[in-house]
Amino acid sequence: MARPVTVRRVQLRDFRNYERARLDLAAGVTVISGPNGAGKTNLLEAIYFGLTGRSCRTSNEREMVRHGGSVTRVALETEDEAGAHLLEAGFEPGETKRLRVDGALVERLADSTARPLVSVFMPERLELVRGAPSTRRAHLDQLVIALWPGRAPTRASYSRALAQRNALLARVRAGIVAAELLDPWDAELDLLRAHEVLRRLGTHHRAALTLRYLDDLPVPEVAALLGRSLHATEALLVRARAAFRRTYEGAEDPR
Ligand SMILES: Nc1ncnc2c1ncn2[C@@H]1O[C@H](COP(=O)(O)OP(=O)(O)O)[C@@H](O)[C@H]1O
Ligand SMILES: [Mg+2]
Repeated sequence: MARPVTVRRVQLRDFRNYERARLDLAAGVTVISGPNGAGKTNLLEAIYFGLTGRSCRTSNEREMVRHGGSVTRVALETEDEAGAHLLEAGFEPGETKRLRVDGALVERLADSTARPLVSVFMPERLELVRGAPSTRRAHLDQLVIALWPGRAPTRASYSRALAQRNALLARVRAGIVAAELLDPWDAELDLLRAHEVLRRLGTHHRAALTLRYLDDLPVPEVAALLGRSLHATEALLVRARAAFRRTYEGAEDPR
């Protein structure tokens, strides 16, 4: 059997909390231990970046660049039975990423046979299961948008609002801006969802709710516009609200 590819040496420049670091890895299992915040996960992320050209922690790659640094660079020496290889991944915000295998620029590291396959499990992922409902909702939102493409303007506005909100969320998490700034975007997302839910209701329910709550008309005017008695309109609104609630809870996202 062919000997597997292994990583033998890791070198970092301006990656997260590391200004410069070099680590030699022996064959077999490596355990990295240290106090909280020492940079253990950063090191794993750096190896992942060197092997894939991506972060396993964030979609905002700027976060990988050490505060105060301008370019982050990870170099990995790998080894297989044929010999040693050098994988390099460099990132500078605003520039295209530089990925090299044995000195030659490549578009993707994934195609290279000079790298081992890599799989990562981050305990942070458990947040999805254990954490706040809003985390799950945000994750599902993204999933739904990925799975159900192209559904008219609502979806586009929704994606736009979601993107804005998530960009802001990253800034909130980084402590740059206050969490309250998220509120208008959450309200915008809720409104878009509400419109989508309305769209899915039957004509009568939709008409009653739209007149009453979007156009903000008093019940007697809604009744007059619908050509119904006051009593019948009130009953219709009760049923319409129940239908809205069911649909809203059943399918929160425009898809
Ligand atoms: N871009 C960055 N520049 C400098 N330090 C960073 C950057 N990103 C994260 N850090 C620092 O890295 C530390 C966390 O490292 P981490 O690897 O997550 O710790 P742990 O060893 O607990 O896994 C924190 O102190 C954080 O401030
Ligand atoms: Mg950690």
